[in-house]
Amino acid sequence: MTARSRARLVAALSAGLALLLSACSKTNLPQDSLNPAGPVARTEDRLFWPVFVIAVVVFILVEGLLVVAVVKFRHRPGRQQPVQVHGNRRLEVTWTVIPALILLGVAVPTVGTIFSLARRPPNALQITVTGHQWWWQVEYPGMHVVTANEVHIPAGQPVYLTLESVDVIHSFWVPRLAGKQDLEPGRTNHLTIEAFQPGLYLGQCAEFCGASHANMRFRVIAQSPADFQSWVTGQQQAVAEPAAGSLAAQGKQLFEQGQFPGGPACVACHSVGGAGAPPGLIGPNLTHFASRTTFAGSTLDNTPAQVAQWLHDPPALKPGSDMPNLGLTRDQIDALVAYLEGLK
Ligand code: CUA
Repeated sequence: MTARSRARLVAALSAGLALLLSACSKTNLPQDSLNPAGPVARTEDRLFWPVFVIAVVVFILVEGLLVVAVVKFRHRPGRQQPVQVHGNRRLEVTWTVIPALILLGVAVPTVGTIFSLARRPPNALQITVTGHQWWWQVEYPGMHVVTANEVHIPAGQPVYLTLESVDVIHSFWVPRLAGKQDLEPGRTNHLTIEAFQPGLYLGQCAEFCGASHANMRFRVIAQSPADFQSWVTGQQQAVAEPAAGSLAAQGKQLFEQGQFPGGPACVACHSVGGAGAPPGLIGPNLTHFASRTTFAGSTLDNTPAQVAQWLHDPPALKPGSDMPNLGLTRDQIDALVAYLEGLK
């Protein structure tokens, strides 16, 4: 290798290393699985690092020896043929036993962690999450609370999720709280998550599930136990009736009885309170819609402008969406927005 090509190689390697290290910055990475924010994620992290280090050491040893052999013993003009041998029992036993011992060393803590994380913690809060193309239904059994795309949890308490799907395979993944777990039609899976501190933890469907897979996001909102309890109490209240004659009252009328060029009234797929389609049959339950920070698979902010934009043409914002373009007029959209944003 000439001095010049060596210098080029060093420059390329340094640039690559700089790029790699710049990806390790801990700021502004809401989905950094290497920055655990709860005990489940921390347990997984503590398993990941030793396994990763062992893998790197093995890689460097094996690839290093390979490169040395290829370079040092390559054919050169005039070099003699080496002695031809067949088989070396001692060598073969050694390179079978050492990897087997390494794998055993990795397997014992791995299997132990799998079993301990699969157990349902005795003091866990239970939540059922159902995957839909492309949104998440979130139900609190025994509490009469149903919401969508936003999983409120109390910080410092384990949460045992029951994961189901009504259509295709999805995968529940909040990188800072736990690893991935699939939601499969016809099968019930479980996952425990927990956050050390109150905060916002972003999640994402991690299994390709159709046109809007990338738009199937969600958020875990960890709150202090008192704040969580008051959120639950708020969700359990009946929603207020819009004042007679108000724009919101017109919106309610449209929601329940409207007939639109592109489809039937909203209640064919959505429910508010006890009225409308059974929760989770087709579209999200919209009781307390206004208390959510995001909607449409957590891809849009819950502001009047974005709700209006959504109602104008849902498939334009979420390709493949079950909710069609209903052909709503500007006035109908304004009335529906007034109604929905009043559902505190
Ligand atoms: Cu659901 Cu990807």
